[in-house]
Amino acid sequence: MLRAAGADFEFQEYEVSADQYMRTGQPIPADVWPELAKADSILFGAVGDPRVNDAAYLAGVLLRLRFELDLYVNLRPAKLYDDRLSPLRREDRRKIDLLIVRENTEGLYVGMGGRFKRGTEEEVAIQEDLNTYLGVTRILDYAFGVAQREVVMVDKSNAMTHAGALWQQQWKAVAKKHQHIKTRHLYVDAAAMQLVRDPTQFEVIATGNLFGDILSDLTAELIGGMGVAPSGNINPETKRGLFEPVHGTAPDIAGRGIVNPIGAILSASMMVRHLGHTEMASAIEGAVESALRAGECTRDLGGTLSTQEVGDAVTKRLRD
Ligand code: IPM
Ligand code: MG
Repeated sequence: MLRAAGADFEFQEYEVSADQYMRTGQPIPADVWPELAKADSILFGAVGDPRVNDAAYLAGVLLRLRFELDLYVNLRPAKLYDDRLSPLRREDRRKIDLLIVRENTEGLYVGMGGRFKRGTEEEVAIQEDLNTYLGVTRILDYAFGVAQREVVMVDKSNAMTHAGALWQQQWKAVAKKHQHIKTRHLYVDAAAMQLVRDPTQFEVIATGNLFGDILSDLTAELIGGMGVAPSGNINPETKRGLFEPVHGTAPDIAGRGIVNPIGAILSASMMVRHLGHTEMASAIEGAVESALRAGECTRDLGGTLSTQEVGDAVTKRLRD
């Protein structure tokens, strides 16, 4: 598909899989890691396998890539390509085109904490929420930098007062540097409600790691479901990037040729946009939009095509 869009990058494929983890005990093989660490961009399939249902696998693959490559911005755009795909009935509520800017290296994802008195009825489990001045500031800076109209900052500073105070403080400081961008604040619960009530009110949402994870599943549903939502994990300074659909591996439907490839295709278009190929990215998005509007899609979106056929439908439009 990227070839059809005119990409002349050098591609290298590496196997990072549950099979190989079960064989070797290494989430990412030792000889593969340095290759991934030096790539300009990584196009990632998805992670998750019922046979390796342990957090160590996830931490060793996706979270390791995000953390060790310092891909601190997680971009989760939600753009509605075809009205038919949205659960929102009111036409004026469907012009959805928003971006979630999710902090990607801190928060509740850092794995700090522990379980004490394990195995007893007095057990205590602690999961720390890490928020650093640098981490909070740089994600807000990024969000204000990409916004054209407005940044909505989402936190839970009424209940999570320590972390919330740092977010509030840095949000105000960063907003001051971007006087031409409007800004407002929503608590995460209210943000969830507003996203369903009228998602067209949002342009850029800036938030922490866990809230961004949750809200981006919600926005995925607004635009047609997990099958269509793309994401990018980037570091704006090093320019490194890892691009992946928001969905997981869907092992229950694997191998049947019915998986929706749109989320992966749109992730590839985010990748080429990040690499500076703006026209190529727009061409891919246009081809996806046209295929969707023609009903050339998988069953989850009401079509009849297989994964391969949807890929072909998009590729054909890129070649024409
Ligand atoms: C996502 C996923 C991951 C996350 C999981 C697989 C750890 O849900 O990319 O949204 O929570 O970040
Ligand atoms: Mg998620």
